Amino acid sequence: MKFLVTGLNGTVAPVLAVRLRRDHHDVAGWDRARVSPDDRDACNAYIAQQQPDWVIHLAMGSPDWAAEMAATCLGRGIRFLFTSTVSVFDGSRSGPFAREQEPDARDEYGRYKAECERRIRHANPDAIIARLGWQIGDAPGDNNMVDFLARTHREKGGVEVSSGWIPSAAHLGDTVEALYALCCDGPAGLYQLEGNPGWTFFQIATELNKRHGNAWNIVRKEEPRRDGRMDEDRVTMGKLDARFR
Ligand SMILES: NC(=O)c1ccc[n+]([C@@H]2O[C@H](COP(=O)([O-])OP(=O)(O)OC[C@H]3O[C@@H](n4cnc5c(N)ncnc54)[C@H](OP(=O)(O)O)[C@@H]3O)[C@@H](O)[C@H]2O)c1
Repeated sequence: MKFLVTGLNGTVAPVLAVRLRRDHHDVAGWDRARVSPDDRDACNAYIAQQQPDWVIHLAMGSPDWAAEMAATCLGRGIRFLFTSTVSVFDGSRSGPFAREQEPDARDEYGRYKAECERRIRHANPDAIIARLGWQIGDAPGDNNMVDFLARTHREKGGVEVSSGWIPSAAHLGDTVEALYALCCDGPAGLYQLEGNPGWTFFQIATELNKRHGNAWNIVRKEEPRRDGRMDEDRVTMGKLDARFR
């Protein structure tokens, strides 16, 4: 198959591209300097020229861009997958959050992603929307939990982590496998890719610290106390236990 993937300079997309190429799929990127997301005709022409089987939209960018691509894909018989976030739910509430619950984010990022979801669903009922938790990569340097821990330690001399908070999280490798599986046989709809079977942030940070040579000063705190995970029963998703074994 041919995949047109946005956000290849980001965190998730390059790992997905490697996974797809390993199975001999074609992967094309989206150079925003050449094809502006604000230029509707240029976007449509680019998708038409590429003729992908899938558009995988992992980049940030406007809800207009997301909705326009979703509509173009529907019109051309191209499948469309968009990654959203657990942050569409109000992070001050305790979960686990069900798929059916209305997004109620109060912060800008969560409201922006919820708006993208809404616009995509309206433009393309055949789309797949996959909500992700906090991604755990193997090294600092991009938008993942390891980078957060390393950066916070560097900037503050220590990282305060709650032993009462169970974050929505997944290893990047497991997320990419689940996204690929959705492309292979996932029906249209909304999915929540949860990889945390119940580890608290303190437990995860301690485990990651061990793997990174105990380089960070992890400071345990008791607050906040809540479950930030998402419910999902339709996706087989690798869990953190297997990664930390
Ligand atoms: N990483 C996580 O922990 C996490 C958690 C939950 C959800 N997600 C979601 O998963 C998707 C991928 O995440 P990620 O961590 O790979 O993101 P990321 O590392 O922040 O990368 C996002 C990419 O989006 C593109 N981009 C940035 N600003 C843009 C703009 N103004 N307009 C259009 N494109 C822009 C850039 O790619 P190009 O320069 O290649 O265009 C950038 O590398 C995102 O939708 C994110 O919301 C990620």
